[in-house]
Amino acid sequence: MEFRKNSAVSFDGYQRRVVVDPANCAVSATYDYILNDPRFEGITPFENKIWLSSPTMHGDEQKWVDEAIQTNWVSTVGANINEVERITAEMTGSKYAVALSAGTAALHLGIKLCAEKLYGQPKAGHGSLEGKKVFASDMTFDATVNPIAYEGGEAVFIDTEYDTWNMDPTALEKAFELYPEVRLIVVAHLYGTPGKIDEIKAIADKHNALIVEDAAESFCATYKGKQTGTFGDVGVLSWNGNKIITGSSGGMLLTDSEEWANKARKWSTQSREDAAWYQHEELGYNYRMSNIVAGVVRGQLPYTMEHVAQKKAIYERYKEGLKGLPVKMNPFDSETSEPNCWLSCLLIDEEAMAPFVRGEKESLYRSEPGKSSPTEILDALAAINAEGRPIWKPMHMQPIYRSNPFITAHGSGRARSNAYISENGAVDVGADIFNRGICLPSDNKITPEQQDIIIDVIQRCFR
Ligand SMILES: Cc1ncc(COP(=O)(O)O)c(C=O)c1O
Repeated sequence: MEFRKNSAVSFDGYQRRVVVDPANCAVSATYDYILNDPRFEGITPFENKIWLSSPTMHGDEQKWVDEAIQTNWVSTVGANINEVERITAEMTGSKYAVALSAGTAALHLGIKLCAEKLYGQPKAGHGSLEGKKVFASDMTFDATVNPIAYEGGEAVFIDTEYDTWNMDPTALEKAFELYPEVRLIVVAHLYGTPGKIDEIKAIADKHNALIVEDAAESFCATYKGKQTGTFGDVGVLSWNGNKIITGSSGGMLLTDSEEWANKARKWSTQSREDAAWYQHEELGYNYRMSNIVAGVVRGQLPYTMEHVAQKKAIYERYKEGLKGLPVKMNPFDSETSEPNCWLSCLLIDEEAMAPFVRGEKESLYRSEPGKSSPTEILDALAAINAEGRPIWKPMHMQPIYRSNPFITAHGSGRARSNAYISENGAVDVGADIFNRGICLPSDNKITPEQQDIIIDVIQRCFR
């Protein structure tokens, strides 16, 4: 393989245009060569970038931020925080909502609340999950599972099912066969699609396990009419910049326990005891939401369902526009679930996959008539100034978690082959969806005309 400045890399027939910076030999991909491919003739890149999912402000945010500044409540206390907690509890049907600096902070405190209930409070300097395993969603963003490691625990990743792209209850049941001592499950609802939470809850109850439910991406998505984030012992929402509504950052911890809500508020404000001086009897964190951030969230909350409706329309337009191609949209169970359609995704049919390879950070592909690959489609989108993403890479494939157990519906997903016996054909569902899927530009400000161009470009990838 030979690198030259702004030249195509040729690797056994696989093509990808790269730029090599002569100063430090850093290699980066460029996409403009796509537009010289006859398949994309007549396509002009968007002047303004089409984002995967970006903030959409409405004006009320400014009002509440200004009020906080004018009244000098520029702190981690104030009316905006109180209102955001009240409205979020009301909208979700959770008894209590605790406003925090991020969804990750809510996951950390939620996991710690469960861990201390199960195993007691550790000494300062020790994690509440030391020596303990926790079952966790595998195909998710790493923020779902990292707090298990913050607390010294070991995540055991549970494979994904094809019906909703979330935790597979069959694999979860298998995991309890292998590790019956486990008492905590962290489960996410990916891309705004509710997972099989009833089945997961029934398995948890059978094994006397607690649930932390990561609804960071699924605010206002419902399962059997009930809000995601309210099925677990603790639920988590995120208001980061790419979510269905945003505060620029921020997150919420949902619980029906007054004691846990008060504990989370205490831990999030450095665990001060009721004394005139700084008195501490347990470890604290600086995790409370700021009243300025809460002002943005307060302004956004009334527009949530408007954003959800826009996201649903985007999903439906993709579904209609991509009909006839060998692809499927990210699925949901219409009998039980109302997704918020936060991200629209597609999955290429197996027989329509063109060859492509991924390393740890780079990817090469080959074009073939009638076929395409995630890398080709993402490069084509990048070439027209639109942002797509690979599917969230499953946790069991991440270098940091490569030695953690991974359980599929058929048992351990690690070390499955045998040099002397052919493999049993068990599928690693997460790896398969990661291999064949992509997240499509799903910004709620995208126009139908812009979406038509994106759909056209995807269709051309398969020519
Ligand atoms: C599934 C999931 N969990 C947790 C988080 C973490 O939320 P935050 O970015 O607010 O910390 C995110 C988003 O970033 C997410 O997508």
